[in-house]
Amino acid sequence: MKICCLGAGYVGGPTMAMIAHKCPHITVTVADINEARIAAWNSDELPVFEPGLDEIVMSSRGTNLFFTTDKVTAIREADVIFVSVGTPTKTYGAAAGRAADLKYVELCARDIAAHSDRSKIVVEKSTIPVRTAESLKAVLCANSSDSISFQVLSNPEFLAEGTAMEDLDDPDRVLIGGEETPEGKAAMETLAGVYATWISRDKIIQTNLWSSELSKLVANAFLAQRISSINSISALCEETGANVDEVASAIGKDSRIGSKFLKSSVGFGGSCFQKDLLNLVYLCEHFGLPEVAQYWRSVIGMNDWQKRRFSNRIINSLFNTVNGKRIAILGFAFKKDTNDTRESPAIYVGRDLLEEEASLAIYDPKVTSDQIYLDLGAKSEPNHEEKIEVCSDAYEAVEGAHALAILTEWDEFRDLDYRKIYDRMMKPAFIFDGRNIANRKELIDIGFNVYAIGR
Ligand code: NAD
Ligand code: UGA
Repeated sequence: MKICCLGAGYVGGPTMAMIAHKCPHITVTVADINEARIAAWNSDELPVFEPGLDEIVMSSRGTNLFFTTDKVTAIREADVIFVSVGTPTKTYGAAAGRAADLKYVELCARDIAAHSDRSKIVVEKSTIPVRTAESLKAVLCANSSDSISFQVLSNPEFLAEGTAMEDLDDPDRVLIGGEETPEGKAAMETLAGVYATWISRDKIIQTNLWSSELSKLVANAFLAQRISSINSISALCEETGANVDEVASAIGKDSRIGSKFLKSSVGFGGSCFQKDLLNLVYLCEHFGLPEVAQYWRSVIGMNDWQKRRFSNRIINSLFNTVNGKRIAILGFAFKKDTNDTRESPAIYVGRDLLEEEASLAIYDPKVTSDQIYLDLGAKSEPNHEEKIEVCSDAYEAVEGAHALAILTEWDEFRDLDYRKIYDRMMKPAFIFDGRNIANRKELIDIGFNVYAIGR
């Protein structure tokens, strides 16, 4: 069997690498229009940082795993084609800021139709609005000869960045949606067979297309909702003397609630939670369900408030002005163990502080300085560039700083020498722990003014 994947991003790259690694009998080709990205996938410096990814890629690359910009050949030779391109929130025209922009997905469908000379299975791996398979099929059929047929399957991806390889190796479930026809069922079985090489059959769920498409949006909405729920309670904890981590632990012991995704933070980031929630809200509005739309919109509203609340706390604590003050920021990725900064809370907090004329000294173990400058509008916003310094370690960042804000929960930030940090900072020295990872009592004993979320 030959598999092709259009899109060599955070999902396409790791997912295809895992399939190639687990299925030596399958040839997997990942095609992307971004030449630099493909060159990086073919180099020793992969474009995605993910623990365990390098080993898996190196085990198959050049044998049954290939990265290419030649999508025409990749499409022509494949039996199964995954579409794993971006589906960002639309930034223009009708429903801008809410609906998913499906132009990349549609372009893939047009390419597949143009370059297929036999019937194929097309798999939606990208996260898309419910009923996208219908549009895909319409584009595929309208642009290919009558002798060719396409089976469109929905196979959403549930991996989380930072744990992608573990998630792919041992997922909670694999979801496959398809048409309820003999051809649809056969296509689902073909795809299920690929996953069954290493995943037990009872974890491979088969549903109708619309259930599968919708389940992906709903899973992300429920996960994001838990974070917004605990973050809302963090504000109440700060007013009442309760400790949000203790509350989370106490409620999480209830097996009906469960302990995961109850870590209060400066807010959730990442490329998908907000995008997929907005998409869900748009769908609800589209289908005439404004109350349902409003319910899910509030999850985003709470997240925006939490990020803003954190920035305001810094400004208010520093005697209502950060103008000209150096603020050290530890962590810029949206979570630990990834180099991805999309929708990272650090971008929002950083921009709030720059608007207040603060200077930022930023350190992240994996995010490049170019990415940090880009995200903070160093070139596009007046005066931002000279106010941003990207540092090579935490100690350099805190030198002469009035405050330190921890925005990503990288393990190395737990073990810093906070006495040494205190000695390097201006006094009074403030720490704002947006991830509740530092030892609060120890910091207070050293002499810091400490703000931790929900304490
Ligand atoms: P990404 O931006 O990292 O990668 C998308 C890639 O698609 C880019 O490299 C782009 O150049 C390429 N591309 C665009 N048009 C193309 C075309 N016509 N042909 C070939 N390549 C093309 O995005 P991602 O994070 O991998 O996400 C992809 C999809 O997966 C999105 O729908 C996202 O919602 C979903 N998803 C992402 C995650 C995650 O953790 N990032 C997890 C689950 C699902
Ligand atoms: C999330 C989902 O967890 C994946 O299942 C899904 O496939 C993916 O989105 C997607 O569709 O893109 P991801 O965004 O990579 O994965 O990472 P998460 O671990 O979910 O974290 C998202 C954000 O929430 C991060 O900023 C993280 O720090 C924050 N978070 C997470 C909290 O603040 N508290 C928590 O308890 C958990």
